[in-house]
Order: sequence, then structure tokens, then C-alpha cells
Amino acid sequence: MKSYLSTELESKLKQEANTLRELHLRELLAPGSGRFEKMSLRVDDFFLDYSKNLLRGETLDLLLKLANESGLKDQIEKMFTGEKINWTENRAVLHTALRSRDESLLEVDGLNVREAVSAVLQKMEAFCAEVHEGRILSSTGKKFDTVVNIGIGGSDLGPKMVVEALDHYGCGINVHFVSNVDGTHVAQTLKKCNPETTLFLVASKTFTTQETMTNGHSARDWLIENLGEKAVQDHFVAMSTNIEEVTRFGIREERIFEFWDFVGGRYSLWSAIGLPIALFLGFERFRELLDGAYAMDEHFRNAEFDQSLPVLLALIGLWYNNFMDAQSYAILPYDQYLHRFAAHFQQVDMESNGKSVNCDNEPVDYETGPILWGEPGTNGQHAFYQLIHQGSKLIPCDFIGFVESLNPLSDHHNKLMANYFAQTEALAMGLTEDEVRVQLKSEGKSEDEINKLLNHKVFSGNRPTNSLLIDKLSPASLGKLVALYEHKVFVQGILWRLNSFDQWGVELGKKLAKSILSEIESGKARDHDESTTGLLTEFLNRSKN
Ligand code: F6P
Repeated sequence: MKSYLSTELESKLKQEANTLRELHLRELLAPGSGRFEKMSLRVDDFFLDYSKNLLRGETLDLLLKLANESGLKDQIEKMFTGEKINWTENRAVLHTALRSRDESLLEVDGLNVREAVSAVLQKMEAFCAEVHEGRILSSTGKKFDTVVNIGIGGSDLGPKMVVEALDHYGCGINVHFVSNVDGTHVAQTLKKCNPETTLFLVASKTFTTQETMTNGHSARDWLIENLGEKAVQDHFVAMSTNIEEVTRFGIREERIFEFWDFVGGRYSLWSAIGLPIALFLGFERFRELLDGAYAMDEHFRNAEFDQSLPVLLALIGLWYNNFMDAQSYAILPYDQYLHRFAAHFQQVDMESNGKSVNCDNEPVDYETGPILWGEPGTNGQHAFYQLIHQGSKLIPCDFIGFVESLNPLSDHHNKLMANYFAQTEALAMGLTEDEVRVQLKSEGKSEDEINKLLNHKVFSGNRPTNSLLIDKLSPASLGKLVALYEHKVFVQGILWRLNSFDQWGVELGKKLAKSILSEIESGKARDHDESTTGLLTEFLNRSKN
């Protein structure tokens, strides 16, 4: 079993962790420490303050050494140049090519990637313009005003997150997303749609995913019921790598937007899978999103590791995950528009690095991908922040805030940002026993009352955060932000020696569901473990009544 770092580095990092456990952010951040200056980084409109972390210069040096020793630089180049780094599926990993402005030759299995990407982008651009300008009309000659995207996982989360995040920039088309195989999702969505003006996008890399195919067929039935079979060809579009299956579904070839198996589902919002985004924003703004991501790609590829936003975030995350016993981390955007941001990155991070076998095909004996969760501030403050402040678990948090609001209503933004700053200060500094005592005394509490309350009111502090401060939420800055976290996950995968681009862990459940479906349909449970047979029988008996 091979570790992901040398014994020497591991023991130094462990020693460093022991030292850090004895220090408090209150000391580390004392005025005059110069820490903010040293541990913050501006990259264009992005500013990262990582000074409120439980680490010091020496820690970072060791972590940077780890990055250098891991061959990260080469791996980054391998990804960008189309080497087959997804080795369990023998695939290149080229979501970066989807947003690239680079014109150098890039070939994968004889395919000229630049030409192929550009052709699909042009097709998307033309399609968006035709829909927006009413040159492509519904089967009854009406302009489309609603788009329903049917997909799941990477064919849903990314586009949905972006459409919601960039709602401010929408150009007038309503976009709905249907993902869950629970009939409620499609039924509730269709209630909001007029069949005569609704365009369906069936988004599935494989075009075999049970949820998407089931929802796609229900939407198709609904359309046929309302407008007849012939309407299908005018109201359905597909984004897929599986042209054969799409054609079988009844979608015309010119309405298929292709992508390729070098685009992973969770990294696909930049591809044809981004069509709902392009229809929602207009193609120009979609291109701005891609350009933002490209700018982050260039930064990632060229910056020194100690000046690289993705590398720093990755190393800090690894530090907590592997040396400070953190099990999870939270992303807390102080912007309502980003309310699906953590949900999208749950897939990106947890499906990429939720693995326990390394690149030597051996089980690992170290911690890999963390649990990611999060909600927008300030909602989270009134829900789960209690645990972050005073709970028994270490939860490093990324705070994301914007200097400028897109909705500058009275003093809302100042209040929002006051909370953004206050929370990281409170988490780092805490409130000591002495401070609580003084406070309670000034409130007129008796000694007895103070003693009862004291421990409950103490905040230990020393709880780490990163603060990302971005000028303004725009297609370009969102593109950068998404690419930043994508690359952070990539770096961690390299350091842990994982294949971040397969997802075998989702297969077993899918397979079992297929065979259980046939049991449900036949009304008879076959042999499973006792619990599953029992539950299934209970379900079958009850649904018969
Ligand atoms: O179940 C996981 C998964 O394979 C994801 O990786 C993917 O994003 C999602 O399912 C949807 O797959 P498809 O786009 O092929 O329908």
C-alpha cells in the first residue's frame, strides 16, 4: 500500500499539526503579525484571504513541497493537453478545451478537438438566435417562451446552478429543470408549461439514464396528448454523446447537440449540456461564462503554486482533511443567487474524490474526499452555524462574498456583508471566559447566574475559514469561480493519487434498482438480504391493498 506522501513529509506535517493544535488564531492574527498581507492573494477581480486558517508559513511550505513532489505540474499539463488521465475508462479529460481560446492543435483519438468544440458552439449560437428571434417556432407556429431541461446529476446540477446564479442576466425565456424520477417533479413542472410554447431539452451524456429517459418519455407523452405525435420533432432537442439512442427517441439529427466522452458529466456545463444556460442568457453571455472559466484555466496552468488560487484552496483543504481530522467542509456563499452552488459542487467534489483506491489500483490507507455541504448566508446562520461555532466538530468553511450587489436595495447589501465579515471574525476569535464574564456583569447578572451561563456563552474560536471576495457576480466571474473549485478538486485528486474522473460508486445501486423494478412489476420479491426482502414484501403487500 503506497502512501500519497513521503514518510519524511508526513512526519513533518504531523509535527506541524501538533504545533498548530497548541496555537490559537487569536495569537496568529494579532495586530502587527503581517499575516493578512502574507496570506492573501488578489487575482484580477478575485481576492482570497486565507489568513484565518489553522496554519502558518512553515505549514504552507510543507504543503507546497507535497504539491511539487506529487508531480502536480505535469498532471495539470497532461489534463490540458488531452492525455488519457481518466485511466479506468481510458479517456482524456478535456472540459477545459470547451472554454479554451487556445488555437494550438489538440487531438484525441484522431478527433480535432478545437474544431469539434467550435462547431458545436456555433450550432448552439445559431440555435439560440433562431429560438430568440422566432425563426425556430413551435409546431403550432408560436415562439418558444419556456425551456424544460430534462437531465440528472451533471446534466442537471451545473446548468441549474448557473441559470439560477445568473437569473439577473436572463433574456426572457423561462427555464425549468426536471431531474428526479419521482413523477411529482415532471408533473409539477408541466403544470407550469404551455405545450404550444415549451421546448424540451433532453440532456444525457449516455442517453440511457433511467431517470432522464423516464422523464423524457413522460414529457413526450404529455406533448403528444396536447399537440399530437408530429409535434415531437419540433419541441424536442437532445444533448448527448449517444447519437444512436437519441435518434431512436425520435429527435431529429439536426436537433442533436453533441459532446464527447472526454467531457465528464459533472464538468459538462461548458459543453452542449450548457444549452439551457445559453438559451436563458443569450449566447453572448454564455460565451462570457466560458471566457471567465478560461481565465481561471490560464491562471491555474501558469501561476506558481504559492500564487495559485486552486492550488492554495486544495492544499488548505487537504491539511484539514488529512492532518486536522476534519470530516467535512462548508461552502457558504453570501449571495442568494448562489443558492445551488454547494449542491453542484457536492457532485463535483464528492463524485470526483469520494474514492478509496489509488492509481496503483490499491486501497488507500489515508483520508480522501471530504463531505461538502452548504447554504447561502445568512440563512445558514439561523440554521446550522450554531454547530460550526460551538459544536465538537472542526468544519473549515469557505465564505464567498461580492463587493457589489446586483440588487442594491436600501441597506441590504451592507447588512449582508456585515454578516459575512462578522461570522469569520467570530469563528476565528471566539469569545473568552473573561469577555463573557464582563459582558454578563454589564447586563446586571448575579454571580450565580453568571456561573450557570458562562460555559454556554464561551466561543472557543480558532475555527478556520477562507474568505473569497469577488467584485461582482457576472457570467465571467461565475465562470471563474466554478473553474476555481473544479481545479481545486482536481489538485486534491492528484495529491491523493485518485482517478477523479470516473464514478464506479454509482453503478451498484443503479443495477440493483433495475432488477428490483422487475420484482415490483411482477409483484414478487426475490431473495435479498432479510431487511431488503422484508421491506419490499411490505411495500408490495401494502400497494396491493
Ligand atoms: O449517476 C451518476 C452519473 O453517471 C453522473 O456522473 C452523471 O452526471 C449523471 O449520472 C447523469 O448521466 P447522463 O448524463 O449520462 O444521463
